This record gives sequence, C-alpha cells and structure tokens, in this order.
Amino acid sequence: MSTVRIYVPKDACAIACGADEVVAAIEAAALKRRQPVEIVRNGSRGMLWLEPLVEVVTPEGRIGYGPVAEDDVEALFEAGLLTGGDHALRIGKPEEHPFMAKQTRLTFARCGIVDPASLADYRAHGGYRGLERALQLGPDAIIEEVKKSGLRGRGGAGFPTAIKWKTVADAKADRKYIVCNADEGDSGTFADRMIMEGDPFELIEGMTIAGIAVGATKGYVYTRSEYPHAIWAMEKAIEVARAGGMLGANISGSPYSFDLEVRMGAGAYVCGEETALLDSLEGKRGTVRAKPPLPAHKGLFQKPTVINNVLSLTAVPHILADGGEFYANFGMGRSRGTMPIQIAGNVKFGGLFETAFGITLGELVNDIGGGTVTGKPVKAAQVGGPLGAYVPTWQFDLPFDYEAFAAKDALIGHGGIVVFDENADMAKMARFAMEFCSVESCGKCTPCRIGSTRGVELMDRIIAGERVESNLATLTDLCQTMKLGSLCALGGFTPYPVLSAMNHFPEEFGAPPRRLEAAE
Ligand SMILES: Cc1cc2nc3c(=O)[nH]c(=O)nc-3n(C[C@H](O)[C@H](O)[C@H](O)COP(=O)(O)O)c2cc1C
Ligand code: SF4
Repeated sequence: MSTVRIYVPKDACAIACGADEVVAAIEAAALKRRQPVEIVRNGSRGMLWLEPLVEVVTPEGRIGYGPVAEDDVEALFEAGLLTGGDHALRIGKPEEHPFMAKQTRLTFARCGIVDPASLADYRAHGGYRGLERALQLGPDAIIEEVKKSGLRGRGGAGFPTAIKWKTVADAKADRKYIVCNADEGDSGTFADRMIMEGDPFELIEGMTIAGIAVGATKGYVYTRSEYPHAIWAMEKAIEVARAGGMLGANISGSPYSFDLEVRMGAGAYVCGEETALLDSLEGKRGTVRAKPPLPAHKGLFQKPTVINNVLSLTAVPHILADGGEFYANFGMGRSRGTMPIQIAGNVKFGGLFETAFGITLGELVNDIGGGTVTGKPVKAAQVGGPLGAYVPTWQFDLPFDYEAFAAKDALIGHGGIVVFDENADMAKMARFAMEFCSVESCGKCTPCRIGSTRGVELMDRIIAGERVESNLATLTDLCQTMKLGSLCALGGFTPYPVLSAMNHFPEEFGAPPRRLEAAE
C-alpha cells in the first residue's frame, strides 16, 4: 500500500478548532486499516470557517475536507477520504474554492500549501528567488527596486518602506538592526501570525534582504506571548535556515552575513508602537520614546534600525523576485501592490483575503464575507484595529486605499475588518475605545493617560442620559485635545472610533439624528 500524504494545519486557529485531535484520529483510523499515511502540518489557507481543513493528496491534486471534527474521521475514511471520496465535508480543490479563486495572492501564495518547516519545500515553491536576485543587485539597487514597487508599511502608518531603508542605509554606524514588528495587537488581525506559522521562511528571506540593503547583520522578530505557535514555527525555521546556510555568516556563499532571533513581549498593545517596542526589546518597560531621533537614526541600542511590519517584510521577496514594477502594477492611487485583508467579527466567512488595493469595503464584508453570521443586517465595520473608525454601511463603497480611507477620517491600519450587526450598541463601543486607551496607555503623556479616563467617565454619563448635550460637547473637545496633544497614535487616534460612532449614530448617544453623510 502506498503512503498517502495528508495535510492538517498547525495554525493556531486550526489547533483551537481541534486540529491536533483530528491528527490523532486520522493516525488511529489509518493504523486500524494498516494504511501508511504521512501527515504534514501546514499553515492555514485562510478560510477560517473551514478549519480544521484536512487536505489529501490524490492523483487529481489536493482535495479538501472541512471543517473536520475528531468524530468525523471514521466516517470520512469510510467515504474514501484517502482517495478524495465524496462526503458532505468535501470542498474539492481548495484553490478552486470561490473564496480563494477571487484572491491575488503574493504574500500568501505559499501559505497553507507548503510544509513550514521545510526549506526544500520553500525553494520548490519559488522561495529564495528574491534573495538570489538581491545578492546580484547589491544594496543600492535593492532599495531602488523597493522604491519602484511603491511598497508602504503594512503595520498601520503606510510609510514608504524604501525611504526608511535608505535612511538606515545612509546612516554611519558600527552596527545596524532589522526589527520585525510582529506584535499584531490590532483587534481582528491575524495575518502576521498566519505567515509566521504557515510560511516563516518568507519572513526570514524578507528580513535578510532588508539586512543586505541597509548593512545590518542582525535582526529580531518581536512578537507576543499569545503567539506560542508562531514563535515555535519561526524558531524552527530559523534553525533550519541556519543549518542550510541561509542565515549566519556568508549567506548562500555570498559575502553578506545576517542572523535572526525571536523575542517575546508580554502583549501590551503599546509595545506594537515602534519606539515602545524598542524599549521592550532592550528589556525595559515598553514606553513610547519622543521623536526625533527616529529609530532609523537611533533605534535599537541607539543604533540605526529598520522597523517594519511582518507584511511589509514578506512583500519584499516578491518585489525582488518579480521586480518592483510587477508589484506596482497592482493597486490604486498611491496604494500599490496587494493587501492581506483580515475579515473578522460577526461575519459568515471570516478569514484571510489577499487582494490588490481598490476593492471596496462592501465587497469584502458582504460578497466575500457573506454578511453577518447572525443573519442580521450589517450595521458597521471597524477597520484598522481599535484605533480605526467605525465605517457605517452607507460608506461601504469606500475602496481599500490609504488616501480614500483618510479622507473619511478612517484608516486601513493593518488591514483588519471587524464586522458588527444591528445589535451593536455604538455608545458602548465608543466607551470601549476610551477604556481600551486608558488600560493600554503607556502613561507618558497627559492627553492620553488622563484624557482616556475622563473619556470613560464622560461616556458613562452620556449612556446614563446625564446632561447629554453638554457632555457630548465636552467629549468632542476632549477628543480634539487627544488628537492634537498625544505623543503617539494610541492617544492620538482613539478619538477616531469615538467620533465616528458619535457622528454616524448620534441617536445612540441620545443626540438628535444628524446623518448628513447618509444623503451623500
Ligand atoms: C499604539 C500602537 C500600536 C501599534 N501596533 C503595531 C503592531 O502591532 N504591528 C505593527 O507592525 N505596527 C504597529 N504600530 C505601528 C508601528 O509604530 C510602526 O509604524 C510600524 O511597525 C512600522 O512598520 P511598517 O512601516 O512596515 O508599517 C503601532 C502603532 C501604535 C501607535
Ligand atoms: S499617547 Fe498614550 S501611549 Fe502614546 S505616548 Fe502618550 S501616553 Fe503613551
């Protein structure tokens, strides 16, 4: 009997949904039938409502079944699981599923397909093509290629990556660092985690290229304690890359050296802010640093440092492999390339959807996400994490584009969408935004430290119906102070969810309806 290869994700979401128990059940069912099987623990394809998604290699290709529970396994074997047999859970070829077929996958092209612990598998699927080209080009031309791509930071601020790299490349210092921001604290986001668990070599390759471009020989991946599976997968891949000559001295036989370590923070939201992250990485309490100096001049241990999000760094191998122009061909306006968008919250088909910038929010929530899981009408979506605005349905024609969102006082952030149905209480959501800020504030500046607590108190009075008009005026004034006076975006952007909820749903704050934009 020939060995059948079966893929079961080791992604944290799949594990939370019982993937490890499914693996044990498959092994037991195969043993009972004396059928040899090879189980590969891959990453997730990103169709999270189908996890655990079990895939069997057949002569026709990989056939998926999901969501598989431990108790389904016997029946699946009886139905001919190992030959791609029919069953209610059979979804056919995963790549042909409409959720996958509609995507443009660059960053996530390999995620869910390859064995995340295998360097050979990574190479077999196009891995390290970018680094090979980078080694031929050398530092200046690498930065030029990234500039041509139009890549902007995917961590939230959308800052052009090439400018940051050029600043660090031009800085004179005996040591420089590449720091990957994998803190991923935004609500409804999981793309960084998925890549680290499903295609960790892509991040290693991206960071290595960044190191060569700016003259850094050491990199750190900073992530949080809530991501144990990602830490495990990254550390495993780093070990394998080192053993394969792709990290350490003379990478791939070149004159360049670069090595990496993973560091774990305790999960404070503010430690995702780049300067607080650096403090945390240095072993201190994560507190925001005043700028200047910029981290590009004085960053980790006071040395010039590139800090980039996982998704910025994992776009780089593709930009180098296929050229900056190829990447820039996707997108709209000044938002070039693709964005791995994370659809979450009260939504039927939640998951990872990578597509070119320009798709509308309505398409993402209604067409791709399938509307709410409760079946009730969608009320709003919070885009860009806890500091992002609540976008009401009458603005769902908004295209995913940094400038289009900014024009509506909203932000794309790290590409997370959290969907709410009509039952969401927008006054309570506004209160939550203030409370979140008060809990997560690093305490360095007054508008955020004190303002957020006063904001919670004001919201409590508004919700209780106390002097609503004057309290709303004070709240608006407080939001303005936080926007203008905060040292970082935690205090500076908390007003966006508060004001968007207040402006779009005034009646829920006890104020008269004033839905001007509805008529736009
Ligand atoms: C409160 C706060 C939290 C943040 N959290 C993250 C985070 O979890 N991940 C991230 O990449 N950037 C985060 N950022 C943005 C970073 O400060 C920084 O802009 C980013 O790491 C730069 O990388 P990029 O240019 O590749 O986006 C946060 C910013 C603030 C103000
Ligand atoms: S805005 Fe808040 S989190 Fe940012 S520096 Fe000020 S106190 Fe710290």
